[in-house]
Amino acid sequence: MTRPAVVVATPHFRLSNSVRVFNSQSKRILEFLSYANILRAEDEFSVLAGREVMLARWKPSAHTLDALSLPGTSWVLIEHPFGMPWIFALLRIRAVLKQGFRPLLAHPERYSWCRTHPERVSRLSELGVGIQVCARSLTGTGVTAETAWRLIESGMVHVLSSDAHQPGDNLLSIELKHEVDSVAPGAYNLLTGKMPEMVMNNCELPKLPFTV
Ligand SMILES: [Fe+2]
Repeated sequence: MTRPAVVVATPHFRLSNSVRVFNSQSKRILEFLSYANILRAEDEFSVLAGREVMLARWKPSAHTLDALSLPGTSWVLIEHPFGMPWIFALLRIRAVLKQGFRPLLAHPERYSWCRTHPERVSRLSELGVGIQVCARSLTGTGVTAETAWRLIESGMVHVLSSDAHQPGDNLLSIELKHEVDSVAPGAYNLLTGKMPEMVMNNCELPKLPFTV
């Protein structure tokens, strides 16, 4: 397995956070990046920083979304409370689209609306939303893992992220690659390589479901 050329770290951020919290987190991110770039010299991949944005406020401004988007792109990695009903999730996601940004929806497998109606993911994709599943979900158990595997198997995923939180979280492993490719042949390299690269190149993603 080849190493990624770019790793994007996405610490959590709530839209309801104050400017003071934003500024203090930004300072810590810069400290993290300077440390990460020391490691980069040895490991030959670069580290960038974005945010994973909790949609806790009704209408985010374009100015706010611009500050929270993935670096150099109009993609914004978003999440919402796990139990939020579908209609409110849809309205919040549409509010991001309305401001001219591209939402990349984190871990749909954790949301109650997706567990009961995974086909809703393709409706989001029709609107221009990217779908990102976590390797942590695939390596877990229960309904989260089951939903994540159903999405992978049915071609309803654009990006497979790690959800690594600390050193040693080796979630994107060769074992996982074999498992993913066994249910969706060729999908692993697409979801961890070409599709994330399209996001970071600020490209539109294909509509779902797609077949490899
Ligand atoms: Fe999250």
